[in-house]
Formats: sequence, structure tokens, C-alpha cells
Amino acid sequence: MKLAKIWMRILLLVLGLGAAGLSHAFEDDEACLMCHKYPKMGRIAEDGTRKVYYILPEVFSKTVHRNVPCRDCHSYIKELPHKPVTEGVNCSQECHSVKNPSTGKPFSHKTINDTFQQSVHGRAKIETGLNNDKPYCTTCHTNPLYNPAEKALPQKITDRCNVCHEDSRFVGKWYNHTSRRIREVKRSSKEIVAMCSACHSNKDMVERHQKAAGAEGRSLGRKFPIAIESYSESFHGKVTKYGNTEVANCLDCHASQANYYMSVHDIRPSRDPKSSLSKENRVETCKRCHQAADENYAVLDPHPSSKKDDNLFRYYAEIIYGLVGDAALFGLIGLTAFETVGRRRDGASWFYRNGTSWWRRSKRGRDRIEPSA
Ligand code: HEC
Ligand code: HEC
Ligand code: HEC
Ligand code: HEC
Ligand code: HEC
Ligand code: HEC
Ligand code: HEC
Repeated sequence: MKLAKIWMRILLLVLGLGAAGLSHAFEDDEACLMCHKYPKMGRIAEDGTRKVYYILPEVFSKTVHRNVPCRDCHSYIKELPHKPVTEGVNCSQECHSVKNPSTGKPFSHKTINDTFQQSVHGRAKIETGLNNDKPYCTTCHTNPLYNPAEKALPQKITDRCNVCHEDSRFVGKWYNHTSRRIREVKRSSKEIVAMCSACHSNKDMVERHQKAAGAEGRSLGRKFPIAIESYSESFHGKVTKYGNTEVANCLDCHASQANYYMSVHDIRPSRDPKSSLSKENRVETCKRCHQAADENYAVLDPHPSSKKDDNLFRYYAEIIYGLVGDAALFGLIGLTAFETVGRRRDGASWFYRNGTSWWRRSKRGRDRIEPSA
């Protein structure tokens, strides 16, 4: 904490220099950037994590939260210069300054948060113990840029809006806001798999939760311990790894497509009737892509594994296939070796001509003569 105070002092000294003359695309009414605009501002925290304290105005002004004043989120900051921060930002609180234009009420992510709390990942911002293993909003979300692929506004479109609206700032703002959704700027299949894998491939996490569930008499899904390795074994997983976007990623199955953006926050175990993978809903989920899918198709295992306790048939099938494969390979190599030795004993030595070898007169009269051309 001492370090924080020294930092504060140094910054206050530097303040007078360089604070003037920067024009921001958003208003810094709370003067946070007076300090926080200096690149490289940051430190290594006590627990070893790297803290980044600078906000680049020209980047922040292109993000989805650029109209939210700093203190609508960092509401725990009451005075300036502020005290060392201990709390975090709570994503479910109400904005003081941004109204939801469709309802007139202060804007908040309450609807998403309410759904999220009912899901298997539901947790509060500050958690301890097992719940701390679950993702919070900020585990999955940063403050994303609006259309990251677009370096500038597409003038062809905005000119058309400007014809009526006259104010290009108004148009720019609404163009970005809606086009991001119309263009479906979202995670790729690979990114989704990486996001879920970050936790679900963590053996320690899995063990902790299985133990706890056992102690509480709860059951976790059959595939819970092997969700990631088995998905990578599946057809879907293998081709997703090579960049295919047509096959199913985690959310194509574990979230309903009917209301996708809400449903990704409502992931439930397959034993829950509300899950898109429950007995009742599974056929429909496969059907979206496998149009002819029926009950029989839906029992195909999207998390195939040949572990003994997961699938006894696959376990033995794999052993038998392995043996058969080894035997065939061994036989082939053995046969080639025998043949080679036999031919050498016949006196035929290796020589390459017309695409083949071994054509020689034999000492023992067993000629392998070049066919007459
Ligand atoms: C007088 C300069 C100054 C001003 C103005 C200022 N800050 Fe800070 N802020 C700092 C310094 C210095 C730190 C680093 C403190 C530390 O090392 O713990 C910091 C840290 C932070 C942190 C990170 C704390 C953490 O450890 O996670 C947040 C969040 C923050 N400030 C938000 C704001 C907001 C929001 C405003 C505007 C309302 C603001 N600051 C205004 C100097 C300032
Ligand atoms: C939409 C909400 C939101 C807005 C608006 C926002 N922040 Fe943050 N900020 C966060 C979140 C979330 C974190 C991550 C730390 C946490 O969870 O508390 C964060 C972290 C920070 C940090 C610390 C980084 C770290 O590594 O801990 C600083 C400094 C900061 N913000 C400053 C600002 C300033 C200055 C502004 C205004 C220009 C601003 N923030 C606007 C949500 C917001
Ligand atoms: C497990 C990861 C995860 C968690 C946790 C999570 N989200 Fe999401 N969220 C997503 C995904 C995936 C999408 C779909 C868009 C995409 O793929 O980027 C999304 C979309 C959104 C959208 C729609 C964005 C848009 O442009 O239409 C909002 C808003 C949102 N999340 C807010 C939240 C809030 C608030 C929380 C916490 C209560 C939260 N999310 C928790 C993964 C997550
Ligand atoms: C032909 C003229 C015209 C064009 C072109 C036009 N608008 Fe509009 N826009 C209007 C009028 C008139 C209203 C208000 C009346 C209404 O709601 O229909 C409006 C309302 C809006 C509103 C709602 C504002 C509010 O606060 O309620 C937004 C946002 C908007 N337009 C964005 C755009 C964008 C972005 C484009 C270009 C893609 C565009 N408009 C093109 C005439 C136009
Ligand atoms: C930050 C870590 C984290 C991330 C990221 C994460 N999960 Fe989880 N998930 C967990 C934890 C922890 C549990 C166990 C909850 C419990 O003990 O009941 C869980 C439980 C689940 C369950 C239910 C398991 C059961 O048998 O009850 C499903 C299904 C699930 N997650 C799917 C996903 C998908 C799909 C994604 C990617 C969109 C994802 N998770 C991202 C940590 C995470
Ligand atoms: C093709 C659809 C599909 C895809 C893709 C898929 N899953 Fe599953 N997942 C299922 C089904 C069906 C079950 C239930 C299997 C059972 O218990 O027999 C399941 C079970 C699980 C479970 C155990 C809890 C439960 O709900 O029974 C977790 C955790 C899980 N999946 C996570 C993931 C993650 C993470 C990914 C992406 C890496 C993923 N799944 C990809 C269909 C899918
Ligand atoms: C997002 C779309 C999508 C969803 C949802 C989906 N799949 Fe697939 N899956 C594909 C595509 C594309 C292929 C490639 C082969 C094909 O077209 O049949 C494939 C291939 C497969 C294969 C291997 C090839 C084959 O046809 O035998 C199996 C098995 C499979 N899926 C099972 C399922 C099951 C079971 C479900 C539902 C739990 C499901 N899939 C949900 C897109 C999807």
C-alpha cells in the first residue's frame, strides 16, 4: 500500500505537465484520465498479477462502454485523489448516467445477470471457495471494441444516414452500436472452445468439484471430468481445431439458438430439463445442423471417450483394434523382410530401372528377368 501512495505522489507531481491539449472522443468529466492516461502506468500486484492502470482515450472511445462514465462502473471511488482500490466492479449495478432509451430507466445488465445467476456458472462478483472457480462476467468479457475489423466508418452507409440526420457524430454512434450486432461480431468457434477449455480442462478444478459434489450428495455430469479431451476426440472437435466453422462448438450444443445471446448465459447441465441437451431438447439441438436427426442420432456421443469407466465397449474395441493393427503391421513388415532376404539369397541385388527393382539373373536359376520391352 505504501507503493500506492508513492505512485500517487509522483503522479500528482507530473500532473501539471502534459495534461492539457488532449482531445478525447468521449468526455472525461470525472478527470480520471488526468492520471490514468499515462501509458505504462501499472504495477505488479502482491499476488504476482500484472495490473495495467492506463486507459488510452483513443482506444477507450472505440469500445462498447465508451459512453459510460468511469464512476458508473468504478462506483466505489468517492473522492479524488482516490484511496487504494480493494473492491472490484460489479457488472450488475445500475448506470447512473446512461438511461435505457427503450424503457427510460437507468441502464443495467440486470436481465443478463438474473439469468446468469440461475445457470450452473452463477456466482457473485466476490466469491471464495468452490464458487470462485466459476466464471464471472469479466472472466469472459473485456471491454470490446465496436467493429474491430472496420478501421473507419463506411462512408457509403453513413453518408446516407447523414442526409437526414445531419450530425455525423450521432450517425457514427448509432452505426457502430447496431452494425456490431447486425454483422454478428462475436467469438469464433475456436475462441469459444478456448474459453470453455480454460477451466474445463483444468484437472485440479475438476477434481475439487467432483469431491465436493460427492460430499454433498450431488451428481455432476458423466462427461464433466473429460469434457474437453473428449470433445477434441470427436468429429466436431477435430475439424474445429483446423478452423472449420460449420460443425458444432461448445455453445452450439450447450446453449439454445432460439435466444442465443441470452442462452449463452444460461448454461445448465444436460440433466436439467431446461438445458438444450436435456432428453426433451437434444434432438432439436442436433437437428439444427443434422436435418434428418432423430432420437437414434441424438444418442451418438458428442463427447466420445475410450476410458474404461466411460464407455466399456469403446474401451475394449480400442484394445482389439490396437492389437489387430499391430498384428497387421508386424505381418507386413515381416513378410517384406522375408521376401528381401529370400531375393538376396537368390542373388538379386537392389537396382532401380523402369520404376522397379530386383530384376536380375539369379545364381540359382530362379531368374527375375526384365520383361522384354
Ligand atoms: C490523482 C491521480 C489519479 C486520479 C485523478 C485517478 N486515479 Fe485511479 N489510480 C491512481 C493511481 C496512482 C493508482 C494506482 C494505485 C495502486 O498502485 O494501488 C490508481 C488506481 C486505480 C484503479 C485500480 C486499482 C486496482 O488496484 O485495481 C482504478 C480502478 C482506478 N484507479 C480508477 C480511477 C477512476 C475511475 C478515476 C476517476 C474517478 C481515477 N482512478 C482517478 C491515480 C489516480
Ligand atoms: C463498463 C464498466 C467500466 C467502465 C466504464 C470503466 N471501467 Fe475501469 N474497469 C472495469 C472493470 C470490470 C475492471 C477490472 C477490474 C475489476 O473487475 O474490478 C476495470 C479496471 C480498471 C483499472 C485497473 C486495472 C487493473 O488491472 O486492475 C483501472 C485503472 C480502470 N479500470 C480505470 C478506468 C477509467 C479511468 C475509466 C474511465 C475512462 C474506466 N475504468 C471505465 C470496468 C469499467
Ligand atoms: C462463460 C462465459 C461468459 C460469461 C461468464 C458471461 N458471458 Fe456474456 N457473453 C458470452 C458469449 C459467448 C456471448 C456471445 C457473444 C460472443 O460470442 O462474443 C456473450 C454476450 C454478451 C452480451 C451481448 C453482447 C452484444 O454485443 O450483443 C452481453 C451484454 C453480455 N454477454 C453480458 C454479460 C454479463 C453482464 C455477464 C455477467 C452477468 C456475462 N455476460 C457473463 C460469454 C459469457
Ligand atoms: C430518410 C431520412 C432518414 C435516414 C436516411 C435515416 N434516418 Fe434515422 N431517423 C429519421 C427520422 C425522421 C427519425 C425519427 C422518427 C422516427 O423514429 O421514425 C429517425 C430516428 C433515428 C434513430 C432514433 C433516435 C432516437 O433517439 O429515438 C436512430 C438511432 C437513427 N434514426 C439512426 C439512423 C442511422 C444509423 C441511419 C443510417 C443507417 C439512419 N438513421 C438513416 C430519418 C432518417
Ligand atoms: C472460469 C471457469 C469456467 C469457464 C470459463 C467455464 N466453466 Fe463451465 N463450469 C465451471 C465450474 C467450476 C463448474 C462446476 C460447477 C459445480 O460444481 O456445480 C462448471 C460447470 C459446467 C457445466 C455443468 C457440469 C455439471 O455436470 O453440472 C457445464 C455444462 C459447463 N460448465 C459448460 C461450460 C461451457 C460450455 C463453457 C464455455 C462457454 C464453460 N462451461 C466455461 C467453470 C467454468
Ligand atoms: C454436439 C454437441 C456438443 C458439443 C459440441 C459439446 N457438448 Fe458438452 N455435452 C453434450 C451432451 C449431449 C452432453 C451429455 C452427455 C452425457 O451425459 O451422456 C454433454 C456433457 C457435457 C458436460 C458434462 C455436464 C453435462 O451437461 O452433462 C460438460 C461439462 C460439457 N459437456 C462441456 C462441453 C464443452 C466445454 C464443450 C466444448 C469444448 C462441449 N461440451 C461441446 C453435447 C455437446
Ligand atoms: C452447429 C451445427 C451442428 C450441431 C448443433 C451438431 N452438429 Fe454434428 N456435425 C456438424 C457438421 C457440419 C458435421 C460434418 C458432417 C456432416 O455434415 O454430417 C457434423 C458431424 C457429426 C458427426 C460425425 C459425422 C457423422 O455424420 O456421422 C456426429 C457423430 C455428429 N455430428 C453428432 C452430433 C450430435 C449427436 C449432435 C447433437 C447433440 C450434433 N452433432 C450437433 C454440425 C453440427
